[in-house]
Amino acid sequence: MKTVDVNLGERAYQIHIGSGLIANATGFIAPLLKRQRVAIVTDENVATLHLNTLVEGLEGAGISTASLTLPAGESTKSWPHFERTVEWLLSEKIERRDIVIALGGGVIGDLVGFAAAVLRRGIRFVQMPTSLLAQVDSSVGGKTGINAPHGKNLIGAFHQPSMVLADIDVLDTLTPRDFLAGYGEVVKYGLLGNEAFFEWLEEHGPALAKGDKEARAEAVRISCQMKADIVERDETEQGDRALLNLGHTFCHALEAATGYSDRLLHGEGVAIGCALAFDLSARMGLCAQEAPSRVAQHLSAMGMKSQLSDIDGALPSAEALVDLMAQDKKVVDGQLRFILARGIGQAFVTSDVERADVVTLLNDYLSDTV
Ligand code: GLY
Repeated sequence: MKTVDVNLGERAYQIHIGSGLIANATGFIAPLLKRQRVAIVTDENVATLHLNTLVEGLEGAGISTASLTLPAGESTKSWPHFERTVEWLLSEKIERRDIVIALGGGVIGDLVGFAAAVLRRGIRFVQMPTSLLAQVDSSVGGKTGINAPHGKNLIGAFHQPSMVLADIDVLDTLTPRDFLAGYGEVVKYGLLGNEAFFEWLEEHGPALAKGDKEARAEAVRISCQMKADIVERDETEQGDRALLNLGHTFCHALEAATGYSDRLLHGEGVAIGCALAFDLSARMGLCAQEAPSRVAQHLSAMGMKSQLSDIDGALPSAEALVDLMAQDKKVVDGQLRFILARGIGQAFVTSDVERADVVTLLNDYLSDTV
């Protein structure tokens, strides 16, 4: 078992990472309870695989449970399911002193976290992330919310969980594609701030993908520790936290261009976006050419999508992709913000990027001349 502390004063909490945490959740959750009752929100896919294990463990220890199972998929992160969740929690008479458990991937974590943020002006919740992406990113740091018809994650709140329980065993139930998509966020941490971790991933990445639990737990621990360090410095993203968006300006444009469909999973877009950010950094003379080559090599060695031609189907023009970037919610005063790098592990935030340079970069990939 590994533990990461998120030191946020009165909002401090721990992330526990290890095997069997769903079956043995009681030992962690019981000390948080003021009465022997919890509400669990999950989705249909996760319920089939893990809900019984969690419920049996809790009920066996005398903690009564009520569960709400929502449809799986991104469209659940919406007003109708948010309303349903809040109304259900009220109908279950969940009070301020109670705990809600979010058992699922990023969609469930974000939705339930937001419901917990507003219910009775804020109740406590525990994240039990069941995807690699949620274990290393969305369950940590307190960003919660839902999508709006105007765009993704436009409605939400910062609301830190009271605990995160990342059960490494659940990663065995992911498809290889979902696992590798989550790995895109893992690689991101090495690239943005920890070259030694990137080197470690170059060595251990293949074992990790094959199911090596010790390597998986260590990768989740280091990723969470890095995220915790950044969130402790900048909880509400006034500065450094934006580093976590390495690859995301490109990713958001690509996700919009592919209609948020199965053509491109979020973590796949992050991996491609990281490769593009490093290539752009090298073209702008900010880092050596070996850096983008090394990034692309590692992604290919892992069997991941690493460039635009790896996305099935046609993409819009480079100009249209840059226009999509300009709709990103992180645009300030119409200025595009990029996370670029001076080398592996040395990312920084800048608005000092010429639109023409981004268009040329994308054109080179779209016409396969790279
Ligand atoms: N996923 C980026 C952040 O939590 O800030």
